[in-house]
Amino acid sequence: MANVLVTGGAGYVGCHVLGPLKQAGHHPVVFDDLSRGFSELVAPHGVPLVVGALADRALLRRVLDQNQIDAILHFAALAYVGESSEQPDHYYQVNTVDALGLLQEAVAYRPEKPPAVVFSSSCAVFGVPPVLPIRELSPRVPINPYGRSKLALEWMLEDLARQHRFTSVTLRYFNAAGADHQNGCGECHAPETHLIPLAIQAAIDGVPLSIHGDDFETPDGTAIRDFIHVRDLASAHIAALDYLIAGGFSTDFNLGTGRGHSVLEVVHCVERLSQRPVPIRKGPRRLGDPPALICDASKARQILNWIPHYSGLDRIVADAMAWERQRQAIKGLGRRAVVLS
Ligand SMILES: NC(=O)c1ccc[n+]([C@@H]2O[C@H](COP(=O)([O-])OP(=O)(O)OC[C@H]3O[C@@H](n4cnc5c(N)ncnc54)[C@H](O)[C@@H]3O)[C@@H](O)[C@H]2O)c1
Repeated sequence: MANVLVTGGAGYVGCHVLGPLKQAGHHPVVFDDLSRGFSELVAPHGVPLVVGALADRALLRRVLDQNQIDAILHFAALAYVGESSEQPDHYYQVNTVDALGLLQEAVAYRPEKPPAVVFSSSCAVFGVPPVLPIRELSPRVPINPYGRSKLALEWMLEDLARQHRFTSVTLRYFNAAGADHQNGCGECHAPETHLIPLAIQAAIDGVPLSIHGDDFETPDGTAIRDFIHVRDLASAHIAALDYLIAGGFSTDFNLGTGRGHSVLEVVHCVERLSQRPVPIRKGPRRLGDPPALICDASKARQILNWIPHYSGLDRIVADAMAWERQRQAIKGLGRRAVVLS
């Protein structure tokens, strides 16, 4: 059983790991500056929350020491691709430089056996892949500052782990989606940029969903993405942590289903499950948007024994809709003014 620091645990993906960590017998402590997260997503789990920024190294050191941290799940980051092009310096500062500070503090706190690290990376590190599905050994050529800031940390993590003799796992998520609404967890990005919550919002308030490109070389012309249920991501984190605790060597895993769904397929799924039309507005492709991103997760299946159980599109959309209903009733989370009857 491990004492686990969960940076960014008040965010969308991080909060989903808190319950499973406790169920597995671990002791999580959340470290989050609440810049993009919510204490309301931590509260249901009865997990301590330290409000602080990664840049506050003295606080980080104190938290590592006081809680005798054995492992770090590092979710904290800025994660808007568009924003990263407008503020690249901010993205490199938080996602790369401040994250390096976290690793340095972790090594300084217990140099003889630094905590193991599980890092939330992204399929954005692959840029526009030449071959599908995307394996861990596919070329990593990110095309925006967000992806580059994540790839830089992948490299730093590899090098520091080797130098300071700790172990690490990099998990590259494809499109995280869905919710664990029964345990008070779900997506609360503001502004929301992810397709499924935006399509649900369009079904609710009638404001058209923007579709960026309908002339891709795909069966219906819209882009194809690999959606992975956030509960399946949570189980991958527990598996990665257990793997490292059991002495596994440092490595990386791509996390997705291996199945792609087009934007229009998602729209039709939301329409069918909500029984409402999703109005759409077609626009041009976004610069650098690949036609399809599909994951090869066979390495995670083989080594972590990880199998997604919740990642069918209907289940993802149904859970995201249930969360949307619930979210509005939770004080502090009702930022988006929408009503789902
Ligand atoms: N959501 C996805 O589809 C997706 C896909 C691939 C990778 N990821 C990665 O997964 C991680 C979590 O993503 P998410 O969707 O949950 O994002 P999120 O914005 O919901 O959560 C990030 C959390 O980190 C916190 N944070 C940000 N900067 C911080 C700082 N300087 N110090 C302390 N806390 C800080 C925020 O307050 C927030 O609670 C990120 O690293 C992201 O890059 C997400």
